[in-house]
Amino acid sequence: MCGIVAYIGSQKAYPIILKGLKRLEYRGYDSSGIALYSEQIETCKRKGRVAELEVWDEKITETATVGIGHTRWATHGEPSDANAHPHTSNNGQLTLVHNGIIENYASLKQELVQKGYTFKSETDTEVLVNFIEEIQKNNDYTLEEAMRVALKRVVGAYVIIVMENGFPDRLVAARKGSPLVIGVGEGEHFLASDASPIIEYTKKVIYVNDYELAIITQDEIILKNLGNETITPYIQQLDMELAQIEKGGFDHFMLKEIFDQPASLTDCLRGRLDSENQILTLAGIDQHLSIFTEAKRIVIVACGTSWHAGLVSEYIIEALCRIPVEVEYASEFRYRNPVINSGDVIIAISQSGETADTLVALERAKEQGAFIFGVVNAVGSSIARLSHAGAYTHAGPEIGVASTKAFTAQLTVLAMMAIKIGLEKKTLSMSEYKRYLAELALIPEKVKTVLDTHEAIQKVAIHYAAARDFLFLGRGYNFPVALEGALKLKEISYIHAEGYPAAEMKHGPIALVDEHLPVLFIATKDAYYEKIVSNIQEIKARKGKVIAVVSADDTLIRSMADHVMEVPEVDELLAPLLSVIPTQLLSYYIGVELGLDVDKPRNLAKSVTVE
Ligand code: F6R
Repeated sequence: MCGIVAYIGSQKAYPIILKGLKRLEYRGYDSSGIALYSEQIETCKRKGRVAELEVWDEKITETATVGIGHTRWATHGEPSDANAHPHTSNNGQLTLVHNGIIENYASLKQELVQKGYTFKSETDTEVLVNFIEEIQKNNDYTLEEAMRVALKRVVGAYVIIVMENGFPDRLVAARKGSPLVIGVGEGEHFLASDASPIIEYTKKVIYVNDYELAIITQDEIILKNLGNETITPYIQQLDMELAQIEKGGFDHFMLKEIFDQPASLTDCLRGRLDSENQILTLAGIDQHLSIFTEAKRIVIVACGTSWHAGLVSEYIIEALCRIPVEVEYASEFRYRNPVINSGDVIIAISQSGETADTLVALERAKEQGAFIFGVVNAVGSSIARLSHAGAYTHAGPEIGVASTKAFTAQLTVLAMMAIKIGLEKKTLSMSEYKRYLAELALIPEKVKTVLDTHEAIQKVAIHYAAARDFLFLGRGYNFPVALEGALKLKEISYIHAEGYPAAEMKHGPIALVDEHLPVLFIATKDAYYEKIVSNIQEIKARKGKVIAVVSADDTLIRSMADHVMEVPEVDELLAPLLSVIPTQLLSYYIGVELGLDVDKPRNLAKSVTVE
C-alpha cells in the first residue's frame, strides 16, 4: 500500500511526480503529497485524491527538477493533511516519503519525545524521519550513514526516499519489504513503487533489493548494502507498454481488464501451449519436474482473490496429480508455526508479487528449507525474486483495485502446471492430457463468448443493484468461484455478500433466505449438477431469488431460475475460467449502477504491502 514516486534530472519534477502518483493511486488514495527542492525544500500535502495536489501553484512547481511524492493508504493515523506524506524532521533538514510500517515506532517515538522532539502527525513515518535526524545530529553523520544506522534499529517494512536541505542534487532511498524500482534515463532518474510511473520515460530499470540503500544523482546511482559495501546495479529492460496501463477507451480499468481476458489468457498460454503438437512448456516446472512429482505435499499460500485461485488449484492438482494440497491464508500461515517437511513444495500465488503477508510467509518457509514456486503477475516483484522458480501469469498490468484478469491467468498457469505434473507422474493419461490441452486452447475464445453477453448481465445487475445482501453458492471446482464472486461484489458495490459451498447452505445460511435475498448459483454442467439443482429447489421453496450461471445448453435450471447468465460448455476442471466472468461483470455493473468508484473502492488498495 501507498505509492511513492521521485524524480531527479533536468525536467520539471512536479508534473512527472504528479502523473506518476496518479498511476500509483491504486496503491492508496486517501491523501497525497509532494515535496520539491529548488532554492529550498517546499511541501504540499492534502487529504483526498492526488488531483487535490493540482492546485499547488507556487513558483517551485515550475522550477524544481528534484522531488518526491506519495499517495497514502492510511495505517497510522486517519487520512488528513497532517498525516499525509512527505514528512519533515524537526530541524527541517530532512524530508521523506515512506511506504510500509515501522512496527517499533512507539518505542522510538518515546525516545525522541524524551529528547524534546515534537510531532505534527500520528504517523510512524514522522517518527522515522526524526529518528534519522537524531542519529545524524548526534554523530555528525552524513545522511547515508545516519540512514544505515537508523534502519538497523527499525523493525518493519519500508521503502523510504529522503531529500536533505543543502543537497539539492541527491536523493537517498532504502528498501526492506516494500518495493522500489529505479528508472534509468539519460541524465535523469525516476523512482517509484512500481514501473508504471516510469515506463513513459525509460524502459531501463533497477529493482532495489531488501537491505539496499541507493544514493541517486542526476547521472549516477550508487547502490550499497546496509554494511556499506557497494553493489553493482543490475539494469533490466521492462517488457511493458504504456498502452497497457491506460484505459484504452473503457470507462474504468476494471471493465477494461475484464474485457482484456481473451488477450491476457492468450498471452498466458503463448509459448507454453502448443495444442497442435500437444506440447506444454513451462520452463519453471520443466526445470524442477522431479521436485513436483516427488512432492509429498503442496502448500499454496496466498491472500484474497489469489487465495481463491489457490482453492481451485487444490481441486485441480489433487484430481490430476494425486498430491495432497493445502491452501493457506498467508497471514495465518506465517504466524502459526506451520509444519514444513522436506518434500513439501510451497506455491505462492500473487498478482502484485508484493503482498506483505505472502512475502513474509514465504521467507519463513524458505528459511525452513521449503522449495518455493511463485505464480506471480508482476515481473521482477519481490515474491518473484524470492521464489526458487516460478511461472509468470503474463496478465499484463492490473490497475483496477479488484482483481479480475489476474485471477483467470493464475488459474490457467496452475491448470497447466497440474496437467504437466500429472502427465509426468502418470496420474494423468496421455489421452486426458491431450483433451485438456485442446480444451485450454479454446478458453480465450470461450471467454470472449461470455463477454459478448455483457448487455444481458448488465440488465441482471440493474435488477439486483438495490439488494442488501447476496449469497453465492457453488460446488466442486465452482465453489471457490462462489467465494470469488462474493468477494468481488462486496468490494465493488459494498453490498454484503457471502460465498458458500452450496450444500453447506443447509447448515446455517439458509436461515437468511427470503423473497428479498438474491442467491447466485454457479451451476454449470459438471458432476454436481443434479445436486445443485436440488439446492436451487431448496432456495426456490423459500422464495429466494435465484440467479444462475449456467452452461449454454442448460434448460432445467433455466426453467427454475429468475435470471440466468450463460457460459459455453467446457470440461468441469476448467469451468471456473468461464463461470467467474459473469460474476466479475455483475459486480462491475452493480457498482456502476450504484454510482461507486469501481476502480478505487473505499478503504482498499491494490497492493497490500502492510500486514
Ligand atoms: C480482490 C483483490 C485482493 C487481492 C489480494 C492479494 O479483488 O484484489 O483480494 O487478491 O490482496 O493480492 P496479490 O494477488 O497481489 O498478492
